[in-house]
Amino acid sequence: MHIQHNISLTNYNTFGINVNAKHFISVETLTELISVLQLKNYPNKLILGGGSNMLLTKDVEALVIHINLKGTTKVNEDSDYAFIKADAGENWHKFVLWCLDNNLGGLENMSLIPGNVGTSPIQNIGAYGVELKDNFVSCEALNLDTLEIEVLKKNDCNFGYRNSIFKNQVKGKYIIINVTFKLSKKKHKLHTNYGAITTELAAMNISEPTIKDVSNAVISIRQSKLPDPKKIGNSGSFFKNPVIPLDAFNTLKLNFPEAPSYPVSESEVKVPAGWLIETAGFKGKTFGNYGVHKKQALVLVNYGGAKGKDILALSKLIQKTIYRIFNIEIEPEVNIL
Ligand code: EPU
Repeated sequence: MHIQHNISLTNYNTFGINVNAKHFISVETLTELISVLQLKNYPNKLILGGGSNMLLTKDVEALVIHINLKGTTKVNEDSDYAFIKADAGENWHKFVLWCLDNNLGGLENMSLIPGNVGTSPIQNIGAYGVELKDNFVSCEALNLDTLEIEVLKKNDCNFGYRNSIFKNQVKGKYIIINVTFKLSKKKHKLHTNYGAITTELAAMNISEPTIKDVSNAVISIRQSKLPDPKKIGNSGSFFKNPVIPLDAFNTLKLNFPEAPSYPVSESEVKVPAGWLIETAGFKGKTFGNYGVHKKQALVLVNYGGAKGKDILALSKLIQKTIYRIFNIEIEPEVNIL
């Protein structure tokens, strides 16, 4: 067991924020993870996956446990579907590409989402009309009270828009060890209705797309408007798109007739936070070494060396301004630590 001390977390969070972890260990096996969790001299522990959905605002006093369990196996299959189990430390996009290389369909719309497999169920990641829950079968999770492995099936997880039981009822109670997906082997069901995908496939001159073509289209769309965390630090969408009552939306329309929305239910709509932030004048605004991305207002960026607390202050200013102008509350999608 190799615990390091006072190490920088810059390379462990996609925002690229330079804070120190007082103690740090990367674990590669379940046995090692359990041994580390049993260490009495480190009472406070912070579990770290791909670091793609967090804003670090200060040094971490706890023992940071980096989940680095790797492996991808076929656990079952029939003539139409394969059941693939991927370990928590697998990089999400690499896993999606592995599925495509093996002609397994279902995850292609979620190509290039940063982060790891193990954290994907926590916020039910999603993009371009597909969410993790659409292909999720179950996950194995380590119960932190009993140190026993439990299996959580799809129905146990209460998946919602960027939400699950892991963010609510059982927050902090489990570490996800692996996830099993049901993926199509043939007759792949493509989801190309999302406007930008249709346009992109047409631009690529593709009329009968394969799952790989859909993935390429998604990659191209994402690269055109989302910053690559390897070049510009970011955590994807910083805020969730707010869901508001239809009445409130109709009132908003009086002042902003062009306001976009997506239906949620008969009485509620989702308003793109990106539109609210852009309309409030923040898109592309730069404050020294951080700011709001110029091509997608939902993404806050670290141009290099920014402090987490400055980005947090900017996010609060954006929230306050949105509330003042539109009377709508937006909340962060990222975890603030
Ligand atoms: N918009 C603007 N200005 C902007 C950005 C967006 O006006 O700067 C408006 C436009 O009307 C646009 C609409 O917002 O049509 C929706 O924008 P987009 O299709 O880019 O999607 P989004 O709502 O901004 C969501 C997810 C993304 C996901 C895309 C595609 C959330 C919080 N974000 O973004 O997820 O990639 O849809 O499915 O739901 C992430 O979670 O990190 C993420 C990137």
